[in-house]
Amino acid sequence: MDPEAFRAAAHQVVDLMADYLAGVERYPVFPSIEPGSLRPLFPASAPEQGETIEAILADYQRLIEPNATHWQHPGFLAYFGTTASGPGILGEMLTAALGQNPMLWRTSPIGTELEGVVVDWLRQGLGLPDGWDGLLTDTASTSSLIAIAGARQAAGIDAAANGLPGRPDVPALRVYASEEAHSSIEKACMTLGLGRDALVRIPTDADYALRPDALAAAIGVDRAAGHRPIAIVATVGTTSSTAIDPVAAIAAIAEREGLWLHVDSAYAGAVALIPERREPFRGWERADSIVVNPHKWLFTPLDASLLLTRRMPDLREAFSLVPEYLRTLDRATPVRDYNEYTPQLGRRFRALKLWMQLRWFGLAGLRQRIERHLAMAQTFAAEVDAAEGWERLAPVPFSTVCFRWVGDGSADAAALDVRNAAIMDAVNRTGEVFLSHTRLDGRFTIRLAIGNLRTEEGHVARAWELLRTAAVAS
Ligand SMILES: Cc1ncc(COP(=O)(O)O)c(C=O)c1O
Repeated sequence: MDPEAFRAAAHQVVDLMADYLAGVERYPVFPSIEPGSLRPLFPASAPEQGETIEAILADYQRLIEPNATHWQHPGFLAYFGTTASGPGILGEMLTAALGQNPMLWRTSPIGTELEGVVVDWLRQGLGLPDGWDGLLTDTASTSSLIAIAGARQAAGIDAAANGLPGRPDVPALRVYASEEAHSSIEKACMTLGLGRDALVRIPTDADYALRPDALAAAIGVDRAAGHRPIAIVATVGTTSSTAIDPVAAIAAIAEREGLWLHVDSAYAGAVALIPERREPFRGWERADSIVVNPHKWLFTPLDASLLLTRRMPDLREAFSLVPEYLRTLDRATPVRDYNEYTPQLGRRFRALKLWMQLRWFGLAGLRQRIERHLAMAQTFAAEVDAAEGWERLAPVPFSTVCFRWVGDGSADAAALDVRNAAIMDAVNRTGEVFLSHTRLDGRFTIRLAIGNLRTEEGHVARAWELLRTAAVAS
């Protein structure tokens, strides 16, 4: 594709993109198709001869776009939203064209140094003091994995050099997180060779927040049993109910016990951009690492996760490996080669879209949109509270509301679960909005999570109308 053919095709693609964003509400948020129905629409083998871009784009419109789950739809109220803002999409386009790989400084000087700039802009925006550094990864799962690898290294075990199996000097390692912590923490333990058993799930209180007394007791029991605690993970904004672990109390335990504290604020961390709303994060500046996902509530196209840490040298010890072919011979030693801090070598130039977005919105623009989401969630929560036959199941500190239908109170627990699943399914089948669920205290819980850049008050009001209609009908 020569540059002029590229230019013409790119203009067509931009038109497709703008048309998609302008008309996304014409699609059901979740396509009404069954698993396995799409693959047969495609040829079993790749074409032998190349095809025209017109043919490919026609099939894109026919086969791809309508069969997507429309995360860009303002009725997307499931999971935690990931919307791609206009400037973020433009950033992705330029990223693709520049084709950078900031694995080494020399393979992308601008990719490397701009990453330092945006990490620091975000660090300051989130209200964290000097001394915090960090990097961009693909997902919170990877960020937490890197943090726990750093914790393992900081514990002096040097698993990077010596591994773990068959070492009499290394007792069973332990990581602590609440019962409500995200599965990515458990997966990190699996991946790092600690094993799922290494993750000790600490009980939560009535608001689903980790109980510091239970944490301290669990660490004591493990030490007495000869195990080796290495890290605590506190969550600010748990996945199910957006609960807030008491970070300051947990930090005190981590400091006393000499453990690495990682704060998972993948979703809610965005709220810390608002200085008046930093109470839930109090104490996180005492942590060793923090993850906040711009691809969740900062409207950045997937993927972008911000891993902040005060312990960059520990991450480097965990992951640095410099074979001859990656050595820099023709310049002074670079300030940073980011691949030394991550499991993978090749890296995306994520800083570009973040730089464009942060400039386009400004911090004030981001705060204003987050504030609006917080307000919408409070309005919806108040409606649920006021409605007869509905029950809210958790506090609403951020923009996610957990609730269920209870009717006149005569249905038993199992019947309520079935009924609420049916209500959610009926609402999702309308295609106007898309909700997801969790379980809180064993109860089927509908979640309405506001985080989509394009969601307005009317979409949430419509979701509530559809829920009440489904409750009558189901
Ligand atoms: C609290 C929390 N941590 C981690 C994750 C995992 O995020 P990612 O998909 O970026 O790995 C999620 C996902 O929703 C989350 O809610």
